[in-house]
Amino acid sequence: AEQLVVAIDGPAGSGKSSVSKEVARRLGAAYLDTGAMYRAVTFAALESGLDLEDQDAIAAAVRAADIELTTSPDAQRVLVGGRDVTAEIREPRVSGAVSAVATNLAVRENLVARQRAAIEAAGRIVAEGRDTTTVVAPDADARILLTAREEVRLARRGLELNNSQSAEQLAKQVSERDKRDSTVVNFTEAAPGVVLVDSSDLDFEQTVQAVLATVAEQS
Ligand code: C5P
Repeated sequence: AEQLVVAIDGPAGSGKSSVSKEVARRLGAAYLDTGAMYRAVTFAALESGLDLEDQDAIAAAVRAADIELTTSPDAQRVLVGGRDVTAEIREPRVSGAVSAVATNLAVRENLVARQRAAIEAAGRIVAEGRDTTTVVAPDADARILLTAREEVRLARRGLELNNSQSAEQLAKQVSERDKRDSTVVNFTEAAPGVVLVDSSDLDFEQTVQAVLATVAEQS
């Protein structure tokens, strides 16, 4: 298939993962969830009992980390050291710790290199995260910032997590994670050349269509 790189960034709960996956399917492209890589490193660090604030220990851990991601939008698996941790990396203990790991610059440098390699290997791919439009793939054929108003994002998040946590706890966790994440990456406003898609008043299909239209215009 023809080469095509689509980069999609956005905050937690913007619906970017499900939208990106569906866009990848319709484009016949691979799918790269860069957040899953930060989650995988965080999971590995927690399993080894590392102090997440110990910059050097975390830097060493990311270099040693054996992370495998399948890039099919239909069967997304994440393996750490050969162990399938697809479900574990979504647990609240990982979500609560991931920002601490993601603000480590050695971690970012290491994972960005792996993400670029994955994009290069796939050729036709939708990559999704916080800095794919600006750092990982600034030369992508299409670059989109997918946002939604905060109250919409929190509501969507609540629906996704089946009330495994109280709505209030969840709201707090999501906005705190966004706040911490935005200290290293600006994903709240579109960088030059990045097209903003606001999904607040769009349903899932309309959002997918808006993203596909933007991809068609840009590429
Ligand atoms: O996308 P998701 O919410 O699963 O990402 C989990 C975490 O990984 C984010 O909260 C952020 O700390 C980190 N991340 C990042 N850069 C990316 C993708 C994710 O720092 N490109």
